[in-house]
Amino acid sequence: MTEEDGKTPMEKIVSLSRRRGFIFPSSEIYGGLSSCWDYGPLGVEMKRNVKQAWWHAIVQSRDDVVGLDTSILMHPKVWEASGHLAGFSDPLVECLKCHLRYRADQLESQICPECNQALTAPRQFNLMFKTFMGPVEEEAAIVHLRPETAQGIFVNFENVLTTTRKKLPFGIAQQGKSFRNEITTGNFIFRSREFEQMELEFFVRPGTDMEWFDYWTQERLSWFIRYGIKPEHLRLRAHEQAALAHYARCCSDIEYLFPMGWSELEGIANRGDFDLKQHAIFSGKSLSYYDEDNKEAIVPCIIEPSSGVDRAVLAFLCDGYAEEPDKDDIRTVLHLHPAIAPIKVAVLPLSKKEPLAELAKGIYSRIRARWNATYDDAQSIGRRYRRQDEIGTPLCVTADFQSLEDQQVTVRDRDTMAQTRVPIAELLDILAEKLG
Ligand code: GAP
Repeated sequence: MTEEDGKTPMEKIVSLSRRRGFIFPSSEIYGGLSSCWDYGPLGVEMKRNVKQAWWHAIVQSRDDVVGLDTSILMHPKVWEASGHLAGFSDPLVECLKCHLRYRADQLESQICPECNQALTAPRQFNLMFKTFMGPVEEEAAIVHLRPETAQGIFVNFENVLTTTRKKLPFGIAQQGKSFRNEITTGNFIFRSREFEQMELEFFVRPGTDMEWFDYWTQERLSWFIRYGIKPEHLRLRAHEQAALAHYARCCSDIEYLFPMGWSELEGIANRGDFDLKQHAIFSGKSLSYYDEDNKEAIVPCIIEPSSGVDRAVLAFLCDGYAEEPDKDDIRTVLHLHPAIAPIKVAVLPLSKKEPLAELAKGIYSRIRARWNATYDDAQSIGRRYRRQDEIGTPLCVTADFQSLEDQQVTVRDRDTMAQTRVPIAELLDILAEKLG
Protein backbone atom coordinates (compact mmCIF):
# COMPACT_ATOMS: atom_id res chain seq x y z
CA MET A 1 0.00 0.00 0.00
CA THR A 2 1.52 3.36 -1.02
CA GLU A 3 0.48 6.85 0.01
CA GLU A 4 -1.11 7.27 -3.44
CA ASP A 5 -3.44 4.25 -3.10
CA GLY A 6 -7.00 5.20 -2.26
CA LYS A 7 -6.68 8.72 -3.66
CA THR A 8 -9.21 10.01 -6.19
CA PRO A 9 -7.87 10.74 -9.71
CA MET A 10 -7.87 14.49 -8.98
CA GLU A 11 -6.07 13.98 -5.65
CA LYS A 12 -3.39 12.02 -7.50
CA ILE A 13 -2.89 14.87 -9.99
CA VAL A 14 -2.70 17.41 -7.15
CA SER A 15 -0.27 15.22 -5.25
CA LEU A 16 1.99 14.62 -8.27
CA SER A 17 1.94 18.33 -9.08
CA ARG A 18 2.96 19.24 -5.53
CA ARG A 19 5.52 16.45 -5.13
CA ARG A 20 7.34 16.99 -8.40
CA GLY A 21 7.19 20.79 -8.55
CA PHE A 22 4.49 21.45 -11.13
CA ILE A 23 2.06 23.44 -8.99
CA PHE A 24 2.13 24.61 -5.35
CA PRO A 25 -0.55 26.34 -3.26
CA SER A 26 0.09 30.08 -3.25
CA SER A 27 1.83 31.43 -0.12
CA GLU A 28 2.01 27.90 1.22
CA ILE A 29 4.27 28.73 4.20
CA TYR A 30 1.41 30.92 5.49
CA GLY A 31 -1.17 28.18 5.02
CA GLY A 32 -1.96 28.99 1.40
CA LEU A 33 -4.32 31.54 -0.17
CA SER A 34 -7.61 30.08 -1.25
CA SER A 35 -7.88 29.41 -4.99
CA CYS A 36 -4.51 30.89 -5.92
CA TRP A 37 -1.69 28.69 -7.23
CA ASP A 38 2.02 28.98 -7.99
CA TYR A 39 3.65 27.15 -10.88
CA GLY A 40 6.88 25.42 -9.85
CA PRO A 41 10.00 24.69 -11.91
CA LEU A 42 8.31 22.00 -14.04
CA GLY A 43 4.89 23.68 -14.09
CA VAL A 44 6.25 26.93 -15.45
CA GLU A 45 7.95 25.07 -18.31
CA MET A 46 4.77 23.19 -19.10
CA LYS A 47 2.60 26.30 -18.92
CA ARG A 48 4.96 28.18 -21.23
CA ASN A 49 4.86 25.25 -23.65
CA VAL A 50 1.05 25.29 -23.70
CA LYS A 51 1.07 29.03 -24.35
CA GLN A 52 3.72 28.72 -27.05
CA ALA A 53 1.83 25.89 -28.81
CA TRP A 54 -1.28 28.11 -28.84
CA TRP A 55 0.65 31.22 -29.91
CA HIS A 56 2.32 29.32 -32.73
CA ALA A 57 -0.96 27.86 -34.01
CA ILE A 58 -2.99 31.06 -33.64
CA VAL A 59 -0.48 33.83 -34.43
CA GLN A 60 2.91 32.77 -35.80
CA SER A 61 1.74 30.18 -38.32
CA ARG A 62 -0.97 32.44 -39.81
CA ASP A 63 -0.95 35.56 -41.96
CA ASP A 64 -4.39 36.68 -40.79
CA VAL A 65 -3.74 37.01 -37.03
CA VAL A 66 -1.48 39.40 -35.10
CA GLY A 67 -0.62 39.47 -31.42
CA LEU A 68 -1.05 42.05 -28.67
CA ASP A 69 -0.16 42.45 -25.01
CA THR A 70 -2.33 45.00 -23.24
CA SER A 71 -2.39 46.25 -19.66
CA ILE A 72 -4.43 44.60 -16.93
CA LEU A 73 -5.73 47.93 -15.61
CA MET A 74 -7.91 49.80 -18.09
CA HIS A 75 -9.96 52.98 -18.25
CA PRO A 76 -13.08 52.59 -16.04
CA LYS A 77 -15.30 53.32 -19.02
CA VAL A 78 -14.15 50.08 -20.66
CA TRP A 79 -16.12 48.07 -18.10
CA GLU A 80 -19.18 50.29 -18.47
CA ALA A 81 -19.12 49.85 -22.24
CA SER A 82 -18.46 46.12 -22.09
CA GLY A 83 -21.40 45.55 -19.76
CA HIS A 84 -19.21 44.06 -17.02
CA LEU A 85 -20.02 46.74 -14.44
CA ALA A 86 -23.74 46.20 -14.79
CA GLY A 87 -23.93 42.54 -15.63
CA PHE A 88 -20.82 40.52 -14.77
CA SER A 89 -22.24 39.03 -11.63
CA ASP A 90 -23.36 35.74 -10.11
CA PRO A 91 -26.26 35.19 -7.68
CA LEU A 92 -24.78 34.90 -4.18
CA VAL A 93 -26.56 33.19 -1.28
CA GLU A 94 -25.33 32.74 2.27
CA CYS A 95 -26.24 30.16 4.89
CA LEU A 96 -28.03 31.86 7.81
CA LYS A 97 -26.34 29.48 10.26
CA CYS A 98 -22.80 28.60 9.13
CA HIS A 99 -22.42 31.63 6.80
CA LEU A 100 -20.90 29.61 3.97
CA ARG A 101 -21.52 31.26 0.62
CA TYR A 102 -22.68 29.65 -2.61
CA ARG A 103 -23.69 30.47 -6.16
CA ALA A 104 -27.47 30.08 -6.14
CA ASP A 105 -27.47 28.77 -9.73
CA GLN A 106 -25.16 25.90 -8.72
CA LEU A 107 -27.34 24.61 -5.89
CA GLU A 108 -30.00 21.96 -6.27
CA SER A 109 -32.17 23.31 -3.44
CA GLN A 110 -32.45 26.43 -1.31
CA ILE A 111 -30.89 24.66 1.68
CA CYS A 112 -27.24 24.87 2.79
CA PRO A 113 -25.47 21.70 1.54
CA GLU A 114 -23.16 21.83 4.59
CA CYS A 115 -25.64 22.15 7.48
CA ASN A 116 -29.13 21.86 5.90
CA GLN A 117 -30.17 25.32 7.11
CA ALA A 118 -31.98 28.06 5.21
CA LEU A 119 -30.14 30.44 2.89
CA THR A 120 -30.49 34.17 2.32
CA ALA A 121 -32.32 35.41 -0.79
CA PRO A 122 -29.91 35.63 -3.77
CA ARG A 123 -28.19 38.95 -4.41
CA GLN A 124 -26.13 39.78 -7.48
CA PHE A 125 -22.42 39.83 -6.70
CA ASN A 126 -20.09 41.52 -9.21
CA LEU A 127 -17.09 39.32 -9.95
CA MET A 128 -14.62 42.09 -10.79
CA PHE A 129 -11.85 42.87 -8.30
CA LYS A 130 -11.74 46.55 -7.38
CA THR A 131 -8.70 48.59 -6.47
CA PHE A 132 -7.65 52.25 -6.46
CA MET A 133 -5.40 54.07 -8.90
CA GLY A 134 -3.03 56.47 -7.12
CA PRO A 135 -2.75 57.32 -3.42
CA VAL A 136 -6.32 58.35 -2.65
CA GLU A 137 -8.92 55.70 -1.98
CA GLU A 138 -11.98 57.48 -3.35
CA GLU A 139 -14.79 56.61 -5.75
CA ALA A 140 -13.20 58.51 -8.62
CA ALA A 141 -9.99 56.46 -8.34
CA ILE A 142 -11.62 53.02 -8.61
CA VAL A 143 -10.20 50.72 -11.27
CA HIS A 144 -10.82 47.03 -11.86
CA LEU A 145 -8.53 44.12 -12.55
CA ARG A 146 -9.60 42.84 -15.95
CA PRO A 147 -11.90 39.80 -15.85
CA GLU A 148 -11.05 38.91 -19.48
CA THR A 149 -8.22 39.89 -21.85
CA ALA A 150 -10.65 40.46 -24.73
CA GLN A 151 -11.44 44.12 -23.92
CA GLY A 152 -7.79 45.11 -24.38
CA ILE A 153 -8.12 43.83 -27.95
CA PHE A 154 -11.39 45.64 -28.73
CA VAL A 155 -10.11 49.01 -27.55
CA ASN A 156 -7.01 48.58 -29.73
CA PHE A 157 -8.95 47.57 -32.85
CA GLU A 158 -8.32 50.92 -34.56
CA ASN A 159 -4.62 50.98 -33.55
CA VAL A 160 -3.99 47.53 -34.98
CA LEU A 161 -6.00 48.24 -38.13
CA THR A 162 -4.07 51.41 -38.95
CA THR A 163 -0.62 50.05 -38.07
CA THR A 164 -0.93 46.67 -39.78
CA ARG A 165 -3.37 47.57 -42.60
CA LYS A 166 -5.00 44.15 -42.21
CA LYS A 167 -8.03 43.36 -44.33
CA LEU A 168 -11.09 41.44 -43.13
CA PRO A 169 -11.17 38.71 -42.04
CA PHE A 170 -8.34 39.04 -39.54
CA GLY A 171 -7.72 38.38 -35.88
CA ILE A 172 -5.97 39.84 -32.86
CA ALA A 173 -4.74 37.46 -30.18
CA GLN A 174 -3.51 37.91 -26.64
CA GLN A 175 -2.49 35.88 -23.64
CA GLY A 176 -2.46 37.17 -20.09
CA LYS A 177 -3.75 37.20 -16.56
CA SER A 178 -7.42 37.72 -15.75
CA PHE A 179 -9.04 38.03 -12.34
CA ARG A 180 -12.50 37.05 -11.11
CA ASN A 181 -13.70 37.17 -7.54
CA GLU A 182 -15.45 33.82 -8.00
CA ILE A 183 -17.98 32.93 -5.28
CA THR A 184 -17.04 29.27 -5.41
CA THR A 185 -13.68 28.02 -6.58
CA GLY A 186 -12.09 24.62 -6.54
CA ASN A 187 -11.10 21.52 -8.41
CA PHE A 188 -7.46 22.56 -8.15
CA ILE A 189 -6.52 25.03 -10.93
CA PHE A 190 -9.84 24.55 -12.76
CA ARG A 191 -11.52 27.58 -11.18
CA SER A 192 -9.35 30.13 -9.44
CA ARG A 193 -9.54 33.84 -8.80
CA GLU A 194 -6.35 34.68 -10.67
CA PHE A 195 -5.85 32.77 -13.90
CA GLU A 196 -4.49 33.13 -17.38
CA GLN A 197 -6.39 33.32 -20.66
CA MET A 198 -5.49 32.85 -24.32
CA GLU A 199 -8.01 34.75 -26.43
CA LEU A 200 -8.45 35.34 -30.12
CA GLU A 201 -10.84 37.99 -31.41
CA PHE A 202 -11.39 37.25 -35.10
CA PHE A 203 -13.06 40.09 -37.04
CA VAL A 204 -15.22 39.05 -39.99
CA ARG A 205 -17.74 40.51 -42.43
CA PRO A 206 -21.31 40.38 -41.08
CA GLY A 207 -23.04 37.48 -42.77
CA THR A 208 -19.94 35.29 -42.73
CA ASP A 209 -19.86 35.03 -38.94
CA MET A 210 -21.44 31.60 -38.56
CA GLU A 211 -19.08 30.10 -41.14
CA TRP A 212 -16.13 31.44 -39.14
CA PHE A 213 -17.70 30.31 -35.88
CA ASP A 214 -17.78 26.74 -37.23
CA TYR A 215 -14.25 27.07 -38.62
CA TRP A 216 -12.75 28.20 -35.30
CA THR A 217 -14.68 25.59 -33.34
CA GLN A 218 -13.11 22.83 -35.45
CA GLU A 219 -9.64 24.48 -35.34
CA ARG A 220 -9.68 24.60 -31.58
CA LEU A 221 -10.91 21.04 -31.17
CA SER A 222 -8.15 19.85 -33.54
CA TRP A 223 -5.53 21.82 -31.59
CA PHE A 224 -6.28 19.95 -28.36
CA ILE A 225 -6.21 16.61 -30.19
CA ARG A 226 -2.97 17.50 -32.02
CA TYR A 227 -1.31 18.07 -28.66
CA GLY A 228 -2.43 14.76 -27.24
CA ILE A 229 -5.90 15.06 -25.69
CA LYS A 230 -7.89 11.90 -26.47
CA PRO A 231 -10.79 12.77 -28.82
CA GLU A 232 -13.23 10.74 -26.69
CA HIS A 233 -12.43 13.07 -23.76
CA LEU A 234 -13.59 16.15 -25.68
CA ARG A 235 -17.09 17.21 -26.65
CA LEU A 236 -18.93 20.31 -27.83
CA ARG A 237 -21.82 21.79 -25.89
CA ALA A 238 -23.89 24.53 -27.49
CA HIS A 239 -25.30 27.09 -25.05
CA GLU A 240 -29.05 27.50 -24.99
CA GLN A 241 -30.23 30.94 -26.15
CA ALA A 242 -31.45 31.86 -22.64
CA ALA A 243 -28.07 31.03 -21.05
CA LEU A 244 -25.94 33.16 -23.40
CA ALA A 245 -23.62 35.87 -22.04
CA HIS A 246 -24.95 39.40 -22.63
CA TYR A 247 -22.63 39.97 -25.61
CA ALA A 248 -23.04 36.63 -27.41
CA ARG A 249 -25.19 35.67 -30.41
CA CYS A 250 -24.25 32.05 -29.94
CA CYS A 251 -21.65 30.12 -27.99
CA SER A 252 -20.30 26.59 -27.74
CA ASP A 253 -18.08 25.19 -25.04
CA ILE A 254 -15.36 22.69 -25.72
CA GLU A 255 -15.78 20.44 -22.72
CA TYR A 256 -13.22 18.02 -21.35
CA LEU A 257 -13.90 14.97 -19.24
CA PHE A 258 -12.10 16.22 -16.11
CA PRO A 259 -11.98 13.88 -13.07
CA MET A 260 -15.02 15.75 -11.65
CA GLY A 261 -16.99 15.25 -14.88
CA TRP A 262 -17.54 17.07 -18.19
CA SER A 263 -16.61 20.74 -17.69
CA GLU A 264 -15.77 23.78 -19.81
CA LEU A 265 -12.24 23.88 -21.18
CA GLU A 266 -12.73 26.67 -23.69
CA GLY A 267 -15.60 28.81 -24.96
CA ILE A 268 -16.14 29.82 -28.58
CA ALA A 269 -18.54 32.74 -28.96
CA ASN A 270 -20.03 34.70 -31.81
CA ARG A 271 -19.99 38.16 -30.19
CA GLY A 272 -21.58 39.82 -33.23
CA ASP A 273 -20.88 43.55 -33.45
CA PHE A 274 -21.70 44.17 -29.76
CA ASP A 275 -18.22 45.11 -28.52
CA LEU A 276 -17.08 47.45 -31.28
CA LYS A 277 -20.45 49.24 -31.26
CA GLN A 278 -20.43 49.64 -27.47
CA HIS A 279 -16.88 51.02 -27.41
CA ALA A 280 -17.74 53.38 -30.29
CA ILE A 281 -20.67 54.74 -28.27
CA PHE A 282 -18.77 55.10 -24.99
CA SER A 283 -15.51 56.46 -26.48
CA GLY A 284 -17.07 58.62 -29.19
CA LYS A 285 -14.59 57.10 -31.71
CA SER A 286 -15.69 55.39 -34.86
CA LEU A 287 -14.65 51.76 -34.59
CA SER A 288 -15.55 50.63 -38.07
CA TYR A 289 -13.78 49.09 -41.04
CA TYR A 290 -13.77 50.75 -44.46
CA ASP A 291 -14.74 48.18 -47.05
CA GLU A 292 -12.87 49.19 -50.24
CA ASP A 293 -14.89 46.78 -52.39
CA ASN A 294 -18.29 48.22 -51.55
CA LYS A 295 -17.03 51.68 -50.57
CA GLU A 296 -18.76 51.64 -47.19
CA ALA A 297 -17.92 51.56 -43.52
CA ILE A 298 -18.96 48.38 -41.74
CA VAL A 299 -18.77 47.14 -38.17
CA PRO A 300 -17.22 43.66 -38.25
CA CYS A 301 -18.61 40.73 -36.29
CA ILE A 302 -16.32 38.98 -33.84
CA ILE A 303 -15.69 35.28 -33.38
CA GLU A 304 -13.92 34.58 -30.10
CA PRO A 305 -12.21 31.33 -29.13
CA SER A 306 -11.40 31.97 -25.46
CA SER A 307 -9.27 29.47 -23.61
CA GLY A 308 -7.97 29.18 -20.05
CA VAL A 309 -4.25 28.37 -19.84
CA ASP A 310 -4.65 26.74 -16.43
CA ARG A 311 -7.58 24.60 -17.57
CA ALA A 312 -5.56 23.49 -20.59
CA VAL A 313 -2.61 22.59 -18.31
CA LEU A 314 -4.99 20.62 -16.06
CA ALA A 315 -6.53 18.81 -19.05
CA PHE A 316 -3.08 17.84 -20.38
CA LEU A 317 -2.05 16.59 -16.93
CA CYS A 318 -5.26 14.58 -16.46
CA ASP A 319 -5.21 13.13 -19.97
CA GLY A 320 -1.54 12.19 -19.79
CA TYR A 321 -1.67 10.63 -16.32
CA ALA A 322 -1.48 6.83 -16.20
CA GLU A 323 -0.49 4.06 -13.83
CA GLU A 324 0.88 1.16 -15.85
CA PRO A 325 2.47 -2.22 -15.18
CA ASP A 326 6.27 -2.08 -15.29
CA LYS A 327 7.99 -5.42 -14.65
CA ASP A 328 6.58 -6.56 -11.26
CA ASP A 329 5.46 -3.13 -10.23
CA ILE A 330 3.36 -0.15 -11.34
CA ARG A 331 4.85 2.97 -12.87
CA THR A 332 3.24 6.42 -12.85
CA VAL A 333 3.68 8.13 -16.19
CA LEU A 334 2.60 11.38 -17.82
CA HIS A 335 2.08 10.72 -21.53
CA LEU A 336 2.57 14.36 -22.50
CA HIS A 337 3.09 15.44 -26.11
CA PRO A 338 6.80 16.31 -26.54
CA ALA A 339 5.90 19.95 -27.27
CA ILE A 340 4.00 20.17 -23.95
CA ALA A 341 6.39 18.11 -21.78
CA PRO A 342 8.48 20.35 -19.46
CA ILE A 343 11.68 18.41 -20.13
CA LYS A 344 12.28 16.77 -23.51
CA VAL A 345 15.38 14.65 -22.83
CA ALA A 346 17.11 13.31 -19.72
CA VAL A 347 20.76 12.28 -19.90
CA LEU A 348 21.56 9.45 -17.50
CA PRO A 349 25.12 8.17 -17.13
CA LEU A 350 25.32 4.72 -15.62
CA SER A 351 28.10 5.90 -13.31
CA LYS A 352 29.15 9.23 -11.78
CA LYS A 353 32.80 8.38 -12.38
CA GLU A 354 35.17 9.60 -15.08
CA PRO A 355 35.61 9.13 -17.96
CA LEU A 356 31.92 8.17 -18.36
CA ALA A 357 30.73 11.38 -16.68
CA GLU A 358 32.76 13.48 -19.10
CA LEU A 359 31.28 11.68 -22.09
CA ALA A 360 27.71 12.04 -20.71
CA LYS A 361 28.19 15.73 -19.86
CA GLY A 362 29.43 16.41 -23.38
CA ILE A 363 26.30 14.75 -24.80
CA TYR A 364 24.12 16.70 -22.34
CA SER A 365 25.58 20.07 -23.33
CA ARG A 366 24.93 19.36 -27.03
CA ILE A 367 21.33 18.29 -26.30
CA ARG A 368 20.48 21.23 -24.05
CA ALA A 369 21.62 23.68 -26.70
CA ARG A 370 18.49 22.58 -28.63
CA TRP A 371 15.96 21.31 -26.08
CA ASN A 372 15.11 21.72 -22.44
CA ALA A 373 17.02 18.79 -20.94
CA THR A 374 18.15 17.46 -17.58
CA TYR A 375 21.08 15.45 -16.24
CA ASP A 376 20.51 12.86 -13.53
CA ASP A 377 23.21 10.59 -12.13
CA ALA A 378 21.65 9.75 -8.74
CA GLN A 379 20.36 6.29 -7.77
CA SER A 380 19.65 3.22 -9.90
CA ILE A 381 18.85 3.57 -13.59
CA GLY A 382 15.40 2.02 -13.00
CA ARG A 383 14.52 4.70 -10.44
CA ARG A 384 15.80 7.41 -12.74
CA TYR A 385 13.58 6.16 -15.58
CA ARG A 386 10.62 6.21 -13.17
CA ARG A 387 11.40 9.76 -12.10
CA GLN A 388 11.43 10.91 -15.72
CA ASP A 389 8.25 8.96 -16.60
CA GLU A 390 6.42 10.64 -13.74
CA ILE A 391 7.18 14.13 -15.07
CA GLY A 392 6.50 13.20 -18.70
CA THR A 393 10.04 13.33 -20.16
CA PRO A 394 9.60 11.69 -23.60
CA LEU A 395 13.18 10.42 -24.04
CA CYS A 396 16.07 9.29 -21.86
CA VAL A 397 19.63 8.92 -23.16
CA THR A 398 21.73 6.45 -21.18
CA ALA A 399 25.50 6.34 -21.45
CA ASP A 400 27.14 3.15 -20.12
CA PHE A 401 30.67 1.75 -20.02
CA GLN A 402 30.16 0.21 -23.46
CA SER A 403 29.53 3.76 -24.78
CA LEU A 404 33.20 4.56 -24.11
CA GLU A 405 34.16 1.71 -26.42
CA ASP A 406 31.62 1.86 -29.23
CA GLN A 407 30.53 5.53 -29.09
CA GLN A 408 26.89 4.48 -28.83
CA VAL A 409 24.21 5.31 -26.26
CA THR A 410 20.77 3.93 -25.43
CA VAL A 411 17.67 5.98 -26.23
CA ARG A 412 14.71 4.96 -24.09
CA ASP A 413 11.16 5.87 -25.11
CA ARG A 414 8.82 6.91 -22.27
CA ASP A 415 5.63 5.51 -23.81
CA THR A 416 6.80 2.13 -25.14
CA MET A 417 9.77 1.78 -22.76
CA ALA A 418 11.64 0.45 -25.83
CA GLN A 419 15.42 0.93 -25.71
CA THR A 420 17.46 1.47 -28.87
CA ARG A 421 21.21 1.63 -29.21
CA VAL A 422 22.27 4.53 -31.45
CA PRO A 423 25.61 6.09 -32.51
CA ILE A 424 26.41 9.29 -30.59
CA ALA A 425 27.27 10.94 -33.91
CA GLU A 426 23.63 10.50 -35.04
CA LEU A 427 22.00 11.17 -31.67
CA LEU A 428 20.78 14.73 -32.25
CA ASP A 429 19.11 13.83 -35.56
CA ILE A 430 17.46 10.80 -33.98
CA LEU A 431 16.17 12.86 -31.02
CA ALA A 432 14.90 15.55 -33.40
CA GLU A 433 12.95 12.98 -35.38
CA LYS A 434 11.42 11.42 -32.26
CA LEU A 435 10.52 14.76 -30.64
CA GLY A 436 8.89 16.01 -33.88
N1 GAP B 1 -13.76 36.66 -23.20
C1 GAP B 1 -14.69 35.59 -23.01
C2 GAP B 1 -14.51 34.91 -21.74
O1 GAP B 1 -13.73 35.34 -20.88
P1 GAP B 1 -15.32 32.85 -20.34
O2 GAP B 1 -16.10 31.62 -20.79
O3 GAP B 1 -15.84 33.59 -19.17
O4 GAP B 1 -15.24 33.78 -21.63
C3 GAP B 1 -13.04 31.83 -21.09
O5 GAP B 1 -13.81 32.43 -20.08
C4 GAP B 1 -12.16 30.74 -20.52
O6 GAP B 1 -11.37 31.25 -19.46
C5 GAP B 1 -12.92 29.56 -19.91
O7 GAP B 1 -13.30 28.61 -20.91
C6 GAP B 1 -11.89 28.99 -18.97
O8 GAP B 1 -11.00 28.15 -19.68
C7 GAP B 1 -11.14 30.23 -18.50
N2 GAP B 1 -11.66 30.67 -17.18
C8 GAP B 1 -12.73 31.44 -16.94
N3 GAP B 1 -12.89 31.62 -15.62
C9 GAP B 1 -11.89 30.95 -15.00
C10 GAP B 1 -11.50 30.75 -13.64
N4 GAP B 1 -12.15 31.32 -12.64
N5 GAP B 1 -10.41 29.99 -13.39
C11 GAP B 1 -9.70 29.41 -14.39
N6 GAP B 1 -10.03 29.57 -15.70
C12 GAP B 1 -11.10 30.32 -16.01
